[in-house]
Amino acid sequence: MASVTFEKTSKLWPGSSQPAVNGLDLEIGDGEFLVLVGPSGCGKSTSLRMLAGLDTVDGGRILIGDRDVTRLEPKERDIAMVFQNYALYPHMTVAENMGFALKLAKTPKPEIDKRVNEAAKLLGLDPYLARKPKALSGGQRQRVAMGRAIVRQPRVFLMDEPLSNLDAKLRVQTRTQIAQLQRRLDTTTVYVTHDQVEAMTMGDRVAVLKDGVLQQCATPRELYAKPINVFVAGFMGSPAMNLFTLPVSDGVIELGGQQIALPRNATGQSKEVVIGIRPEHFVVASSGIEMEVDVVEELGSDAYVYGRTRGPNGELQIVARVDWRNPPAKGSRLQLQAEPKQIHIFAADTGNRLI
Ligand SMILES: Nc1ncnc2c1ncn2[C@@H]1O[C@H](COP(=O)(O)OP(=O)(O)OP(=O)(O)O)[C@@H](O)[C@H]1O
Ligand SMILES: [Mg+2]
Repeated sequence: MASVTFEKTSKLWPGSSQPAVNGLDLEIGDGEFLVLVGPSGCGKSTSLRMLAGLDTVDGGRILIGDRDVTRLEPKERDIAMVFQNYALYPHMTVAENMGFALKLAKTPKPEIDKRVNEAAKLLGLDPYLARKPKALSGGQRQRVAMGRAIVRQPRVFLMDEPLSNLDAKLRVQTRTQIAQLQRRLDTTTVYVTHDQVEAMTMGDRVAVLKDGVLQQCATPRELYAKPINVFVAGFMGSPAMNLFTLPVSDGVIELGGQQIALPRNATGQSKEVVIGIRPEHFVVASSGIEMEVDVVEELGSDAYVYGRTRGPNGELQIVARVDWRNPPAKGSRLQLQAEPKQIHIFAADTGNRLI
């Protein structure tokens, strides 16, 4: 096991004007499960591939433990990677697939068998060891790919969207299994996903990237409660946080006919702020922010209403969670309240969190 450190690590692809990864500073603790998340093209895979040694590093360093691995070959780094396309060898059994890397490394046969059997037990694959991949379900194949990484007993696991080939239900099951397994093995893991729900549920900490730049790295709880800027605020959470750009005068904003006083120390001299309110932090009341309901989305244990409210320059889209036992009708009008401490405030010019 080992820690992983990115030190001002950068990657500039030839012919590109913007670095794909731009001065990444990130320390991942020994045994930690760190999730890299962000929209498509933000540099997640490139960061992981530089750590694996599959892509070269153009600036800065990468350390595994206290060893500088920046210029080392992949096989010298003592890592194991699970990709989205974890192509198994179709002519080999599950056991042979899992043991193949060890065989290449000339590990003695009894040792291979021992490690394969241990990993199979851990993954619930022991009944399938003699089968070929084509006789397995998608989830079982995915577990074989995990097994292939586990038997190598690496210092670090790297996973790049390993669940994206699975259907929605299996994804949820498998993500729980991977998280449990990682906790049991206690191996440092860097996990890439573009799915913020996956990130929030699996990671000890989550690092949010945008355009190659690290925005925030924090526990899921902190990311949710204190997003550092408008981007993180809007990216983490589903449905996304409501974000409204509003003029502020004397520390007061107006939304949907309701005046809301913001904490003085938050707004300072700002003439304009972005305020953020999560859909789940609204409560329906007899007075408040007026909303006209366009769509009601009932999800069983939750219901969300989508509609419009009034801003200074016309209508604004708004979404709120409501009581699922008693959802309002389409076309109805609601009044919403939000507790002041649940209102996030960001600078309109920089997008950075105020306070
Ligand atoms: N081999 C390459 N040559 C040139 N540019 C590349 C190469 N690989 C990636 N890029 C560029 O680098 C940027 C980051 O790509 P990367 O694959 O790291 O994104 P990502 O965050 O993993 O996205 P996704 O969620 O779509 O997988 C993108 O703009 C991409 O076009
Ligand atoms: Mg990728």
